Amino acid sequence: KETLSEKMRTNYLEFDGVVLPEEYKLYADQVENFEVYDDDVYVCSFQKSGTTWTQEMVWLIANDLDFEKAKSPINARFPFLEFSGTIMTARAAMRDPNMEVPSWVTKSVDFCKTFPRPRFIKSHQPFNLLPRQIRTGEKKPKIIYVARNPKDVCISFYHHSKLLEGFCGTFDDFCKLFLGDKLVYAPYWNHVRGFWERKDQDNMLFLLFEDMKKDLPSVVRKTAQFLGKTLDDSQVQALCKHLSFESMKVNPALNRVTTIAWIRSLNLSKDDSEENEFIRNGNVGQWKATMSEEWIKKFDEWSAKNLASCKGLKF
Ligand code: A3P
Repeated sequence: KETLSEKMRTNYLEFDGVVLPEEYKLYADQVENFEVYDDDVYVCSFQKSGTTWTQEMVWLIANDLDFEKAKSPINARFPFLEFSGTIMTARAAMRDPNMEVPSWVTKSVDFCKTFPRPRFIKSHQPFNLLPRQIRTGEKKPKIIYVARNPKDVCISFYHHSKLLEGFCGTFDDFCKLFLGDKLVYAPYWNHVRGFWERKDQDNMLFLLFEDMKKDLPSVVRKTAQFLGKTLDDSQVQALCKHLSFESMKVNPALNRVTTIAWIRSLNLSKDDSEENEFIRNGNVGQWKATMSEEWIKKFDEWSAKNLASCKGLKF
């Protein structure tokens, strides 16, 4: 019997050079033709680059630090555009119509369509698969992209895949898939490059996970300026406290505990440690302790080759 892990790898297609599950066929046109508004705010990223962290920062800044409203789940406040067609959780729900799952999972594009404006939308689509009106420049919503060192992304993605996507291979297997551009939303460098090339556009802000770790208050101020908001020092401090790893780890609106419990109850999780969590480690440079010299070398060579076309980008 085919394992979920193999299924994850075999039921994938390429859409304009991007690896996506075949279920995405059902959503491709909806995403392409999604009506965009100039007052939308998008957070885009390659998975595991600090998306949730960035979403929470952006949402709170844009909503004048409404910590009370921020108690509702992030997916309900900041929906994930192509969720239904790309993520195992949603794919599992699609296979079993009897499952009780919120509409932001099963009908994610519709959920975003009907969201009251100004909308906050998350997407892991590379630039070349974002809705047409964004690609052509017909609409200019604000776009905040967050990128992270690919070695740490790979480690984070490996744990995520075991926890939420039924992956049961080894870390070595996962590194092979990552470097081979076989994972969902790959190629990684196509993703980063597509946004890096446009980072100087007025409606684009390019952030790094590593900068958020090093100096979160500066990133908060830069993001506030980009969103046209002013925060005083005590507000920046309060926001940074809310956004700390320790605080986010125990925040049920952000830490996906309900989803994880659900996935475990379906036996979809292939996580043996039981300690794995969505907000898991949060450090920069995890690869130093986790990756073999051989993989570090391969990743570094691969990155050096690709960074040549992302002038000025450094992790
Ligand atoms: P790790 O698995 O390395 O810990 P995404 O939201 O794109 O899926 O990214 C998840 C990664 O961001 C996880 O990385 C998670 O721990 C990390 N993360 C989330 N909130 C964080 C925070 N407040 N501080 C540091 N890292 C955070």
